[in-house]
Amino acid sequence: MSDIPGLLLLVEAFRMEEFEQWDIVTGVGLTALGVAAGRALETERPDRLVSDPYAEAFVAAADPPMPVPRRLADIAELPDVARDMWTSLSSYLGVRSRFFDRFLTTAAAGGIAQVVVAAAGLDTRAFRLDWPPGVELFEIDQARVLEFKDGVLGGLGARPRCARHVVPVDLRDDWPVALRDAGFDRGRATVWLAEGLLPFLPADAERLLFDRISHLSAPGSRLAVEHLAPSVRPIIEDPEYREAGRQLGVDIVELWHFEGKEDPGRPLAAAGWDVRSVTAPEVAVQYGRQLHGLMGRTVVHSRFVTAER
Ligand SMILES: C[S@@+](CC[C@H](N)C(=O)[O-])C[C@H]1O[C@@H](n2cnc3c(N)ncnc32)[C@H](O)[C@@H]1O
Repeated sequence: MSDIPGLLLLVEAFRMEEFEQWDIVTGVGLTALGVAAGRALETERPDRLVSDPYAEAFVAAADPPMPVPRRLADIAELPDVARDMWTSLSSYLGVRSRFFDRFLTTAAAGGIAQVVVAAAGLDTRAFRLDWPPGVELFEIDQARVLEFKDGVLGGLGARPRCARHVVPVDLRDDWPVALRDAGFDRGRATVWLAEGLLPFLPADAERLLFDRISHLSAPGSRLAVEHLAPSVRPIIEDPEYREAGRQLGVDIVELWHFEGKEDPGRPLAAAGWDVRSVTAPEVAVQYGRQLHGLMGRTVVHSRFVTAER
């Protein structure tokens, strides 16, 4: 008689080995905590562009290797390099979050009732944005990241403002099956978001991501992606940027994939998407904000790519 449970365990062990796992305080998971901290700081600013009432609680609940600020008062005491990193990061995240908030809510108001957030991390849009009735929102990320997030949100008694589905899967794995099993319907138009993700995917995984999204996108679907051009590389490899990463407790250069990347506009246009893009500094100016400091210099190379089918 075959030992089916044993076989399943073996398969699972291979899968764990194939795709590195992380949680909210290790590897790329820690970057999700970093951007949550940035949103917590942005939320406190009098001229805030977004308000994320849950961000501070994530930082408070985590036990990161380096102290992560959750209040503006926390950064006053930090060394110059860390203070510059956190203020410039939160300033950029205000711009980025508002741009993608508007993109998603405009799509939903226009009748797209299926939303997929790839690499959702500690994104709380399901809880903090106004969604029309009938919206189904899917959050894809690694299991331990989503478990941490749901633990904190559950502790706060937070309630989503749409039908929310968590999809714990690695984006290099067969995530379309996991998405379908969570209730995704490829016959309906979808709005997709990939924010803060592409640098962490190898080139082949990135291509596969766009192929799969295109395959799953019914006519009328939309997509928004944050893309950092390869010209950002000297900045990321600069000792100042490395040091800033160390203030968070990660080596960003180690996590970043530069090799063989192409402009996402190309595969998307080839797959029938009508692609547009705008630079992050251009969006910042529209919102009356000047990007500055380390992140300001970095996101000169950042574009918000949007597409419609
Ligand atoms: C910088 S955070 C951005 C999170 C979120 N989009 C936001 O802006 O708040 C990067 C996220 O990508 C996720 N991620 C990176 N590679 C992934 C992969 N292969 N599969 C699933 N999630 C991944 C990490 O777990 C992390 O939550």
